[in-house]
Amino acid sequence: MAQPLIQVTDLKRHYQMGGTVVRALDGVSLEIQPHTFTIVMGPSGSGKSSLLYLLGGLDRSTSGEISIGGERLDQMDENALALFRRRTMGFIFQSYNLITSMNALENVAFPMQFTGILPAERNKRARQLLEQVGLSDRSHHKPSELSGGQQQRVAVARALVNNPSLILADEPTGNLDTASGVTIMQLLSELHRSGRTVLVVTHDPRMTRFATHKIFLLDGHVVDEDEYQSATLEIPQA
Ligand SMILES: Nc1ncnc2c1ncn2[C@@H]1O[C@H](COP(=O)(O)OP(=O)(O)O)[C@@H](O)[C@H]1O
Ligand SMILES: [Mg+2]
Repeated sequence: MAQPLIQVTDLKRHYQMGGTVVRALDGVSLEIQPHTFTIVMGPSGSGKSSLLYLLGGLDRSTSGEISIGGERLDQMDENALALFRRRTMGFIFQSYNLITSMNALENVAFPMQFTGILPAERNKRARQLLEQVGLSDRSHHKPSELSGGQQQRVAVARALVNNPSLILADEPTGNLDTASGVTIMQLLSELHRSGRTVLVVTHDPRMTRFATHKIFLLDGHVVDEDEYQSATLEIPQA
């Protein structure tokens, strides 16, 4: 077996809420191989976002180890983490997180402001990425002038500006109708086929057909598929 790209060992993220502790992640261990398309399935509240934010270096764990490409995220300081994130990862959110005052092209170009790439080059690259997600004809539209599916395609393009080898997506289809959701998953699938590692968390079982690997989360724990299926089984309508 190849060296895993992501290795997580006994990861915990506990939130103190007044007098009680919410164990969002309570001892998660997992491995993700490079060039895979992994889907993390879990019902609402199972810890999916907590896991993804930790993998993306956007949050700090309570305890446990996270290695990506052999580097320990849990041991990095904020600067190292920010640099690592910019160098290796693209992050896609459920709610797109576009800047409302900027058009599609400006949104995609925005993260390149901090990289030393010259404006003309930023513009060119942003255009290429919008073309890749099929939105060349919408480059001057603001987010409010785009459908949800189009906004998420802009967000996918933006996640690609630094040519990340790892793409993390938190319920990227959660706010979309089925057809737009499938378009986004197909885009992510293309990125996987082009050699990237893709990790998507979702509670939508329809999205699992795009995956090469599946991980199941329940109450902050990784469980096997049988346990997951029996715990989340819906009672059939009579
Ligand atoms: N910032 C926070 N403060 C307190 N509790 C939180 C916070 N974020 C998440 N939680 C709790 O942690 C659990 C897991 O949340 P989350 O990772 O967002 O799950 P999911 O993404 O699967 O819906 C939930 O019970 C949630 O209420
Ligand atoms: Mg979530």
